[in-house]
Amino acid sequence: MGSAVPDDVTNITVADGHPYVRAGTVITTRACREDRYSIHIVPDDATVLDALAREIGDRVAAIITDENVEALHARRLASGLTECGIDVRMTAIAPGEQSKNVRTACQLLEWLAGADFGRLDVLLAVGGGVVIDTAGWVASAYMRGIPYVNVPTTLLAQVDAAIGGKVAVNHPRAKNLIGAFYQPRAVVSGIHYLGTLSERQIRAGLAEVIKKAVIASPEVFTFLEQELDSILAAEPAVTLPLVHAASSIKTRLVERDPYEADLHRTLNFGHTVGHALETATGYGRLLHGEAVAFGMAVAVRIAAHRGLIDADSRARILGLIAAADLPLTYEDLGIPVLADDVLAAIDAIRQVRAGHLRFVLPTGIGSTLITDDVTNGEIRAALFAPTRVASAV
Ligand SMILES: NC(=O)c1ccc[n+]([C@@H]2O[C@H](COP(=O)([O-])OP(=O)(O)OC[C@H]3O[C@@H](n4cnc5c(N)ncnc54)[C@H](O)[C@@H]3O)[C@@H](O)[C@H]2O)c1
Ligand SMILES: [Zn+2]
Repeated sequence: MGSAVPDDVTNITVADGHPYVRAGTVITTRACREDRYSIHIVPDDATVLDALAREIGDRVAAIITDENVEALHARRLASGLTECGIDVRMTAIAPGEQSKNVRTACQLLEWLAGADFGRLDVLLAVGGGVVIDTAGWVASAYMRGIPYVNVPTTLLAQVDAAIGGKVAVNHPRAKNLIGAFYQPRAVVSGIHYLGTLSERQIRAGLAEVIKKAVIASPEVFTFLEQELDSILAAEPAVTLPLVHAASSIKTRLVERDPYEADLHRTLNFGHTVGHALETATGYGRLLHGEAVAFGMAVAVRIAAHRGLIDADSRARILGLIAAADLPLTYEDLGIPVLADDVLAAIDAIRQVRAGHLRFVLPTGIGSTLITDDVTNGEIRAALFAPTRVASAV
C-alpha cells in the first residue's frame, strides 16, 4: 500500500539551507470550502417531513426549539419524524430575544454533550430567528461543527434569518456580538407554520421583506402594496410566493459576499439604527422587525435630507411601513427610548466595525447607496423627525 501522504510533505527536511528551515521564511497555507444547500418552501406537514427525512437519513435528529413552537408545531414534527423511523431528541428554550445569549447557548451545548450527540447527527433548529441564530451558533461550536437544518416558523425567519449562515447570540454591548458564519445543510420553510403567528409577528417579518423589496425589487414592492391585507392574514396563496421571492433575493445577495468581506451589505438597510435600538432597549421590548422598520424610516429621512431620494419613492416606502402598522416615528415606538442610548449603541457598532459605520441609504425603490459618512447629528435629527405619512407625501 502506498502512503497517503503526498510527496511534497514527505520531502520536507530539516536540512540546513532548505527553504522550510531558513530563518524568516513565511509559511503560507489556505483552507477553501464551498457550502451548497437547498431551501425548500413547502405547504404542509407532509412535505416538511418528506424534505427533512431525506436530509436526516439514518442519523439521530436533535430538535432545538422554543416553548411556544414546541407546543404549536415541534412536538407534532417530532412525532412525524419518529413515525418515519428517525431517532429524535428535543429540547426547548424560553421564547423571545432574551434567550439569545451565551448562557442559553452553553446550556444547549451541555444538552448535546449529555445526549451523546455525534459528529454526523443532525441538529434541527425549529422556530423563529432567535432559535435559528442560537442553535446555528451552537451547531458551529459543538464538535467544531455539526450539520444543522433550519426549520423556520416565523415569517421573519423564513425570509431572512434561516438563510445565509450568520449565526450569533447577543451581548449587552452589541447585538449578535458573539457568532460565526456557519451554513445550514438545508432550510425547510413550511408556509403553514405562519398560520399560528400573531399579526404583530407577521408585521415584524414583513419589515424584512419590505427591506429586500426596497433594496432590490420594485416588483416585489408593488406586490407588497397590493397584497398587504392577504399577507397580514397569512394567506398561503400570497405567503408562498412572497417567501419564495424574498428567499431568492436574500440568497442572490448573500452569495456575492457570504462572509461579508467588503461589508457593503445592502441587506443591512434599516439595521444600523435597528440594532442600536434593540441594544438600547435591552433586547425584547421591540421585535427585531419593528426596530428594523423604524431604522428604515430613519434611513429614508437621512436620504431625503441629503436630497438622494425622490419624493415619490420616499412617500411609498414610508407609506408601506405605515400601512403595515410598523413604527415610523419615535412616538410610534411606544416605549421610552433615550436618543443618547441609541447613539451610544451606534458608536459601539462603529467601534466593532473598526470606526466605519456603513449606512445603507435608499435612493429609490430598488436602489441604494452605501456611505460611511453619516454623522451622529444627522442620525439624531432623523430619529426625531416627526414624519407622519401625510407630511411625507
Ligand atoms: N441570522 C440572520 O441573518 C438574521 C436575519 C434576520 C433576523 N435575525 C434574528 O432573528 C431574530 C428575530 O426572529 P423572530 O422575529 O423570528 O423572533 P423569535 O424567534 O423570537 O420569534 C418570535 C415569537 O414568535 C413565536 N413563534 C415562532 N414561530 C411561531 C409560530 N409558527 N406560531 C406562533 N408563534 C411562533 C416565538 O416563540 C416567539 O415568541 C432576531 O434575534 C434577529 O437578530 C437573524
Ligand atoms: Zn434583520
